[in-house]
Amino acid sequence: KYLLLDKNDYDGKTVLVTAGPTVEPIDPVRYITNRSSGKMGFEIAKAVKSRGGRAILVTGPTNLEDPIDIETIHVNTACEMYDAVMKLKDNIDIFIGAAAVADYRPERYELNKIKKSDDNIELKLIRNPDILYELGKNKGNIILVGFAAETENLIESAKEKINKKNLDLIVANDVSMEGAGFSGDTNIVNIIDKDLNIKEYPLMSKTDVAHTILDEIKKYFNL
Ligand code: CTP
Ligand code: CA
Repeated sequence: KYLLLDKNDYDGKTVLVTAGPTVEPIDPVRYITNRSSGKMGFEIAKAVKSRGGRAILVTGPTNLEDPIDIETIHVNTACEMYDAVMKLKDNIDIFIGAAAVADYRPERYELNKIKKSDDNIELKLIRNPDILYELGKNKGNIILVGFAAETENLIESAKEKINKKNLDLIVANDVSMEGAGFSGDTNIVNIIDKDLNIKEYPLMSKTDVAHTILDEIKKYFNL
């Protein structure tokens, strides 16, 4: 539908998209991660390309094939994702953070496999950098779009994230709802803009959600 109307509405725009989970190693055989499939971010990158834009995808490990003809950078940890984004940020028009970035990583990486003993052990976790927050602190002319993955207080939490991270739009999804969230091919989203206007959408394919997000972003073009 959208494609036929205005095929090249992203012509000249460079869009950096993060996708997938991050993986935070504990020792050579163990790690901490989350349930993100990467599908939402990959669909956004493909939608940008189909509308004439340049998409750059920075993704954690997923089971997805690299999209054809889209620059795809593979990372594992949140720190690697942060570094990759910081290298690219000065040459983009739009940033869309669809990745489920781990908030914490193990304080130390054990070079050898941790051996079992009869005692309980503690795993100390330390904060990872918040990529979106860092971009928002020094935003310049970039249009900044975040996701909010919640299991409760969806709208309130998403609104707080818009303000805290200086975002233009946030895509809020209740990941505990059937048909929404991390693993499937569909999602149920609310899109909230920086004036806190809320648009509520029905269950859609992640492809349609991607195009809907791109439609919403257009209101910030050339401002
Ligand atoms: N995000 C990020 N870097 C992080 C954590 C999150 O860039 N270290 C981005 C995500 O890609 C997403 C947005 O911030 O676009 C919100 O992520 P979310 O996990 O919902 O929010 P947090 O701010 O991490 O807060 P919390 O997990 O406590 O809800
Ligand atoms: Ca988080």
